[in-house]
Amino acid sequence: MKSFNFLVFTVYVFILFVQPENVFGLPNFWANVNTAKPNIISRNGWQARPANGHELLKVTPTPYVVVHHGGSQQYCYNRNTCSQIVRSYQNYHMSNNGWADIGYNFIIGEDGNVYEGRGWKYVGTHTPGYNANSIGICIIGDFTNRLPNEAALKALNALIGYGVSKGSINHSYHVVAHRQVTSTACPGTKLYEYVKKLPRWTNNPKKSNV
Ligand SMILES: *[C@@H]1O[C@H](CO)[C@@H](O)[C@H](O)[C@H]1NC(C)=O
Ligand SMILES: [Zn+2]
Repeated sequence: MKSFNFLVFTVYVFILFVQPENVFGLPNFWANVNTAKPNIISRNGWQARPANGHELLKVTPTPYVVVHHGGSQQYCYNRNTCSQIVRSYQNYHMSNNGWADIGYNFIIGEDGNVYEGRGWKYVGTHTPGYNANSIGICIIGDFTNRLPNEAALKALNALIGYGVSKGSINHSYHVVAHRQVTSTACPGTKLYEYVKKLPRWTNNPKKSNV
């Protein structure tokens, strides 16, 4: 009995610290937990208007990810309300700004869902000089005075990880905040502080010349 307990303990310690997948080349269970696939709501799923045209991204996989916030104090915690806000962004971008579609490649709500904007293939209208070589991701809300909740931040990291794993974002990508490259408060001071702590953040982004 004693030796059985010892065996259980040994296996436990082995799994905890040695991580046998590194030893035996097994799939990394913990890595999968950390890079959970994001839940992406398709355009149909949030009742998007059809786009008035598309242009393919010029540099793929994209070397940049640009983080934005919505910039208005409208927040959402369920799919219905988030979809409604995403539609309002799209209406504003198309009807007021005259853009072909919602500006961002993806939009994230504090419901933890990712809403498909222009998606992985098409150029967005979100960051002059970086539209052709980045995936622009917007978190719904104003993050001047507070961070997005954990669900939204988890979705952001999962979306970037998924983009890398499917070959849409370059594995050596850099992440920047909108305000680093355009005169804007976006994505808000609190979210900017968070972005600066991400492992792939750069303080020296290079504009696309295409
Ligand atoms: C990813 O970026 C690196 C560094 O800029 C570059 O050398 C590489 O060719 C890129 N990968 C692809 C598949 O374009
Ligand atoms: Zn922005």
